[in-house]
Amino acid sequence: MKNIAILCSGGDVSGMNPAIKQFVDYAYKNALTPYFVYDGFEGLIDNKITKATHKEVAGIINRGGTILGSSRSKRFMDKSYREVAKKNLDALGIDKLVILGGDGSFKGMDVFYKEHGIKFCAIPSTIDNDINGTQYCLGVDTALNVIKDSVDNIRDTASSFSRAFVIETMGRDCGYLALISALTCGAELCLIPEVDYDLSSYEESFGAQIKSGRRYFIVIVSEGIKNSAQEISQWLEQKVGIESRVTVLGHTQRGGNPTTYDRLMAYKFVNYAIDGLLGAKESSVICYTKKGFEYKSIDEVTGTKYKLDAELIKYLDKF
Ligand code: F6P
Repeated sequence: MKNIAILCSGGDVSGMNPAIKQFVDYAYKNALTPYFVYDGFEGLIDNKITKATHKEVAGIINRGGTILGSSRSKRFMDKSYREVAKKNLDALGIDKLVILGGDGSFKGMDVFYKEHGIKFCAIPSTIDNDINGTQYCLGVDTALNVIKDSVDNIRDTASSFSRAFVIETMGRDCGYLALISALTCGAELCLIPEVDYDLSSYEESFGAQIKSGRRYFIVIVSEGIKNSAQEISQWLEQKVGIESRVTVLGHTQRGGNPTTYDRLMAYKFVNYAIDGLLGAKESSVICYTKKGFEYKSIDEVTGTKYKLDAELIKYLDKF
């Protein structure tokens, strides 16, 4: 069949729109007819599937989010709804899907493939960068740049007002965003879920730094650590002796103009996805590794829980 569809599932990321644009361009280039599925697996079930043209993707390359919408579908876990989804795809003659999402979505798609033979290539897309088997997930660079801009702004006020700031990043239970941001934004302390810590071990050194003239501290913490950002802030005030404020960056990290790197990665991921589906790849994830782009099986990717790179963890010694 010559019909191919794309959908976004799970948390949206900046980089999805450039990927959607390239999907349409590259599908037509390969004599395929591209289709959009709106609202993730929910749209597959509710038949929100339309033929895509260049017109719909004009002017989206610079926009965050996804023009297709996304969802975390509970219904798709139910066999009867997957049957409805299959009927909807059959009616349009679609047997190939490109899916942008996280490993939970990939698992759902794999079940669908095994039941109904809908081929798919998955593109790892999550700001958390926590998908096993790939070093890079779409959207991470944009999120890191959003964090960088926020930390740089906070530094301006922290240094002016002699305050500590506790800045909380997203990441669910993965500390990647916090650690990379702490290293690249010059934080004094970084706390991530993967590594236990003892706040009291920093008190003497932080106190001495204040005595010798330090005016402010930037503390970057990942959501998912054992303390809340508010508790870390109280600790800074009570035990270190510096006025402190909290900034939870929250969903700002999921939006914004996609960086050049994310646009380029979107372009490459999509080309690999379509090439894979035109070749013999029927149910794979495109991973970016030290060797470049590789097609990996769902089991290889989802069979093992993601672990933060040991080399990166070593850099925590700096704090
Ligand atoms: O997985 C992406 C992510 O942004 C996590 O970093 C965060 O914990 C979660 O999604 C937030 O989910 P929601 O958008 O449903 O609040």
